[in-house]
Amino acid sequence: MASLDPGGPGLAAAEPFPWYRRMREEQPISADPRRGWMVFRYRDVQPVLSDHQSFSSEFGDLGLLNTDPPRHRQLRSLVSQTFTPRTVEQLAGQIEQITAGLLERLPPEPDLIRDLAVPLPITVIAGLLGIPAQDRERFKRWSDAVVTGGGAGMPVRQAREEMQAYFGQLLDRRRSRPGSDLISALVQARVDGESLTRSELISFCVLLLIAGNETTTNLIGNAVLCLDEHPQAAAELRQRPDLLEGAIEEVLRYRSPIQAMFRIARPGATLDGQELPAGAPVLAWIGSANRDPEQFPDPDRFDIHRQPNHHLAFGQGIHFCLGAPLARLEARIALRALLQRPLVVDRERLERFQSHIVYGVRTLPLRAA
Ligand code: HEM
Repeated sequence: MASLDPGGPGLAAAEPFPWYRRMREEQPISADPRRGWMVFRYRDVQPVLSDHQSFSSEFGDLGLLNTDPPRHRQLRSLVSQTFTPRTVEQLAGQIEQITAGLLERLPPEPDLIRDLAVPLPITVIAGLLGIPAQDRERFKRWSDAVVTGGGAGMPVRQAREEMQAYFGQLLDRRRSRPGSDLISALVQARVDGESLTRSELISFCVLLLIAGNETTTNLIGNAVLCLDEHPQAAAELRQRPDLLEGAIEEVLRYRSPIQAMFRIARPGATLDGQELPAGAPVLAWIGSANRDPEQFPDPDRFDIHRQPNHHLAFGQGIHFCLGAPLARLEARIALRALLQRPLVVDRERLERFQSHIVYGVRTLPLRAA
């Protein structure tokens, strides 16, 4: 029988994909006494993510992400007023500049994670939120602490507390003297005559940091890895940069930065006709759904021309990733710049991220071509 433990054989090895395949075939809906329920097929992962009446997101403290309707609708429309695709498109020039600056300063022994994929999204978010330049070092230390799970010389709890205190002060300053940044816009946003409370504003800022940085870092890292493994695709993209958008969607499917999301079963929730106990935790394996042959022909093939490509890497339904346009834009700009350089990944020294939920590499060392 296949192991039910996400720490089992499939993930103990570097890649979770063989384990996903076995689970899809042998136990696509599995109940584990310790870890709760897990779903692996596209047709089950999709409803768990999107049917909020059966599967609740109210279990954590990440504001919007951990809220159900009706409050979710209000919060989401407040923040999406400010975080619009247009706001994001306007950042393109700035993202290009930051990328060019980081690539010019690449050290003699570059690590693309440390030298590009980590600083790029952090700098963009800091700019968007209007974090004063002199505070960006501190900002980076907090996000490093959160991203590395306390491995950056600061416990996660301390980083969160300091961030909350910092954002609290910044909000008060923006309330009295608004600027043209996202925090000022959030402070002023209204829906049905209501605005965000102070603690909702703070948790949204923290959520942007946590949800937006590491995921984008991993999208860029995973894209470099995919193109290094598929030199023909890289060569084609050098000739046809218009194919980059589709290539990034394929990276999102093939190596999804977030492999799974949690939900809590509400009373009466069913999966494939089976009723779940109310309150049961459910883990929806996005990374497995994105390799399901029922949805994607030849799913283990990396194909930048794949069409259609309805992957679930950004979730689905009311919680669909708010930052998807920003992540896609940053990845497009970074990859366009990288494809112009003769960079070769030193695969011998690759280090994978040790996590079931987050999929990416910790380092991406390069050597001369
Ligand atoms: C490749 C990069 C990214 C990936 C793979 C990703 C993935 C996801 C996923 C799977 C969800 C849905 C969670 C759920 O259903 O419970 C989500 C939600 C969210 N993401 Fe992203 N994300 C990325 C980048 C970003 C960025 C750059 C930002 C912001 C700057 C961001 C902000 C958010 C927010 C605020 C939510 C919550 C939306 C809601 O609950 O209504 N994400 N993301």
